[in-house]
Amino acid sequence: MAGGIFILSGAGLSAESGLRTFRAADGLWEDHRVEDVATPEAFERDPELVQRFYNMRRAQAAAAMPNAAHEALAKLQADYDGPVTLVTQNVDDLLERSGAREVIHMHGSVMGALCSACDHRWAAPMEMRVSDPCPSCGMSHTRPDIVWFGEIPYHMDAIQNALENSDLFVSIGTSGMVYPAAGFSQMARQLGLKTLELNLEASGAMFDAVIEGPATQVVPDWVSRVLSGKEI
Ligand code: APR
Repeated sequence: MAGGIFILSGAGLSAESGLRTFRAADGLWEDHRVEDVATPEAFERDPELVQRFYNMRRAQAAAAMPNAAHEALAKLQADYDGPVTLVTQNVDDLLERSGAREVIHMHGSVMGALCSACDHRWAAPMEMRVSDPCPSCGMSHTRPDIVWFGEIPYHMDAIQNALENSDLFVSIGTSGMVYPAAGFSQMARQLGLKTLELNLEASGAMFDAVIEGPATQVVPDWVSRVLSGKEI
């Protein structure tokens, strides 16, 4: 059994599928203020605005296609003879649509709906409305199943456990600006994992190795080296 690989991905993984990142010059946060569309307070204040923002992102994610990087990660997970944990900050379903399994969405999924009254989750309609009744309790407290700023990311226990049982930490296409994900590379180093960053440009965080380039080039290249036994 080969060493465990823990992979954290961010918006850069889906950038070449046409989904915008957040902090680039043309990033989502350039024309939408976080405090208007990505906090519980924003949803309380103007739920329709928040629903419109996530209906737009859901439609964009649904129209996007998985790229070579998503497909390479699904291939790694299928062919590598050790555990591969895929943790993503992304809320699109492009990894799943490329065949990846058990993807851990620590910031939720724009394809999911959540009832704030009873915590029931279901597949979101393309056009979600605040008034949509929960299929379980019937209340109209429907929100996108997204972890907003100020809320606790999902699956942190599973993430911690996977890190403790891995030998290599790989960060793909994330600026490392948002905690707790931003702290995973340091946690990995403290646990004795090797650390690698695959990014268009180095984020500046500390890694044992950094490979710069677009995800659709550097991720498939790296995966083929791992599968031919040249890496890890
Ligand atoms: N290939 C690889 N990496 C890329 C590419 C590409 N084609 N294009 C951009 N990147 C990299 C950038 O270099 C940057 O490091 O993707 C990263 C995008 O950074 P952000 O826009 O900050 O996105 P991310 O790191 O995923 O943000 C984390 O912040 O706003 C919250 O919840 C949101 O999950 C998000 C979190």
